[in-house]
Amino acid sequence: MLGRFATFLLAISVGTFLVLAPTSSVEAARQKYKYTGNKGCKCHLSPGVWEGDEWKQIDHSKSFKRLETPEEQKDPKCLKCHATGYGGKFKNPKLTYLKNVTCEACHGPGQGYVDVKNKLAKAVKNYPELKKKYKLKEKAKKAFNELAEKDPMMGRKVQYDAGLIVAGINNPSGKIRDQCLECHWEDPDDPDKCPKCDKDEDGKPIFMDYDKYVKKDDHRDVDAIDAVIKKMSSGDKAKWKGYIERDPFLSTKIKPEAKKKKKKKAK
Ligand code: HEC
Ligand code: HEC
Ligand code: HEC
Repeated sequence: MLGRFATFLLAISVGTFLVLAPTSSVEAARQKYKYTGNKGCKCHLSPGVWEGDEWKQIDHSKSFKRLETPEEQKDPKCLKCHATGYGGKFKNPKLTYLKNVTCEACHGPGQGYVDVKNKLAKAVKNYPELKKKYKLKEKAKKAFNELAEKDPMMGRKVQYDAGLIVAGINNPSGKIRDQCLECHWEDPDDPDKCPKCDKDEDGKPIFMDYDKYVKKDDHRDVDAIDAVIKKMSSGDKAKWKGYIERDPFLSTKIKPEAKKKKKKKAK
């Protein structure tokens, strides 16, 4: 159920929330923010955390190994899909790409998460008791966790408005599928496909079957927000439109493994 503060916020902001926050293009985010590398995502990559565990299992985490010769490892064409951030800016100025398809390939450059913190600091101002407790921006993460617990919809709004948390959100369409299509292809005859993998084991042209592919690597787990959405009244659903189901995929079932992982973490 939504708390008192949430109800208050809903009341004052209905009009604004009906409109989707405009999404910038992937290219715009790339030019604006720097890639930090997986070190910047280290909490998500610690053992037992579902998103990191699933990522380590699938070949995105090993995709750079496919480039076997020094020529391939310098070829912009190969790097565009087998590495992350090629053509973008990096926290370490010596880098021109990150090896493998890393977190930032789908979730956007890590530096952009500063925006999450700034917007969070603003959102927290609406909660007197949080504001008192978390005066400093540096405490943003703790403040966010508490905000997400007290008022999960507000937490999600802050994430979505920051524009980088949800995979695919940097695309003009805001759809996860378009993020995948930066490197994958749905038409076996697409001219922009991998020159090395145009046949599968049976000699048939290979292509992305989106529903199957995305199930392999969505790493969603059950958050406080999922419980809130389940119990929402239809009125609240309308008010938070765009923050609940930006992409229809986000309303699909969460994997049983993810639920198990969550339980383990809670112990
Ligand atoms: C448009 C994006 C794209 C480009 C460009 C690209 N790759 Fe790939 N590559 C992929 C994807 C995606 C896969 C996995 C395909 C799948 O499993 O659906 C892949 C798979 C591979 C594989 C494994 C093949 C297999 O089936 O075992 C090799 C090797 C490879 N790429 C090398 C290269 C090299 C070398 C280059 C540069 C000449 C390159 N790729 C350019 C996206 C790309
Ligand atoms: C191939 C693209 C891709 C890569 C690479 C990727 N993610 Fe995701 N991630 C997704 C998709 C798709 C979702 C589900 C939609 C959403 O909630 O954003 C998701 C969801 C998440 C979520 C939210 C989970 C939830 O319960 O809603 C977190 C946190 C996350 N990813 C972290 C990471 C981290 C950390 C890495 C690197 C270890 C990573 N992701 C790598 C595509 C990706
Ligand atoms: C930055 C480019 C890039 C993006 C974006 C990307 N992929 Fe990939 N993907 C690859 C490459 C390259 C491979 C091949 C890795 C290998 O075989 O070494 C691959 C392989 C895969 C595989 C096979 C891996 C396995 O272990 O079975 C799946 C499934 C997959 N991608 C799903 C997705 C989905 C779903 C999305 C969107 C949410 C996505 N990818 C986004 C580049 C990308």
